[in-house]
Amino acid sequence: LGAIQINGLTRKFGIIGSPVKHSFSPAMHTNALQSIGLNAVYLPFSIQKEKLPDLLPSFELLGIEGFNITVPHKENIIPYLDQLSPAAQILGSVNTVIHTSNGWMGYSTDGNGFLRSLKHEDIPYQQKTILMIGAGGAAKAIAVALAQVGVKELIIVNRTQEKADSLATILKKAFPDLAIRTSLVDTDSFDLLINTTSVGMEDDRSPIEDYWIQKSDYITDIIYNPPKTTLLKKAEQFGKKTLNGLGMLLYQGVEAFEIWTGQPAPEALMRKTLLDSLHNIKSMEDNQDK
Ligand code: ATR
Repeated sequence: LGAIQINGLTRKFGIIGSPVKHSFSPAMHTNALQSIGLNAVYLPFSIQKEKLPDLLPSFELLGIEGFNITVPHKENIIPYLDQLSPAAQILGSVNTVIHTSNGWMGYSTDGNGFLRSLKHEDIPYQQKTILMIGAGGAAKAIAVALAQVGVKELIIVNRTQEKADSLATILKKAFPDLAIRTSLVDTDSFDLLINTTSVGMEDDRSPIEDYWIQKSDYITDIIYNPPKTTLLKKAEQFGKKTLNGLGMLLYQGVEAFEIWTGQPAPEALMRKTLLDSLHNIKSMEDNQDK
């Protein structure tokens, strides 16, 4: 990639959150925008919760066309938006916003992003039996995307049973025909297992017993750092096909890019930028350890 084009006509995108300093998105999106010849940049904005009411008028004033939202604002931004996509409506959470002639429109691209990462690896998910571990925000986003395309059965298990039950209730309300339960029976087997918990991110634990890992054809984790969690290592030992969370991170961005620009995103370049960013933080961590 050559020098970044920037002048009086440069279009502006960004990400809001607190903190945002660790985000890979500014590098990924600025490279992507410029690589397809768009005169545009994507910047990080660290925004405190109390400032949210002023945010959209300020962005409109500054001509910021669209932005991503990360923790802790994905839910709190909603009252300020003019329209929501169906998924964002069900989730009560938004990670992508675009300014249109009808005002500010909110989307959630995490769930679809995960499904696109499966598709990219030829991992089947439509009309399949799926075991999902975890019932937090990421689980909810993926569950809604799965319910939208249709599954044979979705089984959600979680450390805190009530959270799995309340997620199932929300899903059942939005998708009355969805086959869903929140506990396992011994005879279960699955096409696909998805870990959405943080177990394995900063420890070498697996979020579920080996017994269940062996009973699924495909094993996936939304964690991308480390690239191979204990869950995925075990799955490989059992001869299963695996996938980590890098694709979800990539494709949530790909979808956002397409919403903002109306053009296909340069996926390969975006993947490379993410891998470079990961590599850079890894070297930084290694240096700190010395
Ligand atoms: P995210 O937005 O990444 O999904 P979250 O909404 O905080 O984050 O959800 C975290 C998920 O990981 C939850 O399902 C949580 O289980 P609880 O509902 O019981 O809290 C799960 N989780 C986090 N740490 C865990 C641990 N040590 N063991 C088991 N599950 C854990």
